[in-house]
Amino acid sequence: MTDGIKELRQEVHGVLRQMDGAKQDVAGMLKGKVAIVTGGSTGIGEATSKLFAKQGANVVVNGLPGDPVDAVVGEILDAGGIAVAAICDVGTVVGAERCVTTALESFGQLDILVANAGVFPELAEIQDFPLERFNELMHTNVEGVYLTTRAAIPELHKTNGCIVALGSEVGLVGFAQGASYSATKGWVTAFIRSLAAEQAKYGVRANVVAPGPIDTEMTRPSKGTMGVVDAFMAVKGTALGRRGTPEEVANVIMFLASDLASFVTGAIYTVDGGSTASQGLPGFEAGRDAKRVPKGTVDLKHQHEGRGTLR
Ligand SMILES: NC(=O)c1ccc[n+]([C@@H]2O[C@H](COP(=O)([O-])OP(=O)(O)OC[C@H]3O[C@@H](n4cnc5c(N)ncnc54)[C@H](O)[C@@H]3O)[C@@H](O)[C@H]2O)c1
Repeated sequence: MTDGIKELRQEVHGVLRQMDGAKQDVAGMLKGKVAIVTGGSTGIGEATSKLFAKQGANVVVNGLPGDPVDAVVGEILDAGGIAVAAICDVGTVVGAERCVTTALESFGQLDILVANAGVFPELAEIQDFPLERFNELMHTNVEGVYLTTRAAIPELHKTNGCIVALGSEVGLVGFAQGASYSATKGWVTAFIRSLAAEQAKYGVRANVVAPGPIDTEMTRPSKGTMGVVDAFMAVKGTALGRRGTPEEVANVIMFLASDLASFVTGAIYTVDGGSTASQGLPGFEAGRDAKRVPKGTVDLKHQHEGRGTLR
């Protein structure tokens, strides 16, 4: 065998090995499923879009104009996954329907809706809370979840699919200066639990993931709505004494969206480092082991690029 042919063989084997590796990478828990992730290009949404794609799902990544949606789609494709963009406002009928038609036109079906898009525009006592911010909250956190669910349900009936919606720890407990945000998350929780009861007969499951403080734009004093003291207190309110990572939330979303959770519906999964289970500020007691942040498996590039508001 000549050196040239040997080299060519080695090259072909190398490519085949790479292809095998790529196949293994995407042959996961969501193999063959089609998912929409609203607000899917930053923070928890970016982690969910990428984790879903890594686990074999075909993903519709939604976001508003100006969000890094195309970048996330490109990063998923580069990693060997499958994704398309749906750049639209889910708080409108047209935008919500566009997410579903994108899934159908690109992949022919819809199995999973992750209703993740949300805003957290301001902290203020109710007498000072601007009506404009209240309307923004209702637009995305309530209408966005309602309209995408309404658009997705007929397709989820066909696939016995599921919905995972993002509530919040503050949808379960009081949140001074955040009453309006907290109320939208309480609405999500009640809505999804009722859907679980109503839609089970069609084989559709619906669950809530309720995060505590997560390391995204929303809890960054430098950029987001929270000030330094608010963020510090939120972290000390967790028993683990730290913020969660977007991927730690995405892991739970993925479990609920997968067939492993086939008997789970109407559940509220807190991913809050123990904050709703605790009183006071247990984070002051948390040691180094509790505070250790796991490394994660997906490459997040837009973790802190969320916007907090519609503007
Ligand atoms: N970060 C936290 O600590 C935390 C805690 C509890 C709950 N949550 C919830 O988790 C979800 C994700 O939050 P995050 O922390 O990743 O924030 P984020 O700001 O990074 O992500 C939200 C995304 O939704 C997009 N979006 C907003 N309105 C939209 C609309 N009308 N149509 C389409 N896209 C829209 C935003 O542009 C952004 O990309 C939200 O529902 C949030 O309320 C977050």
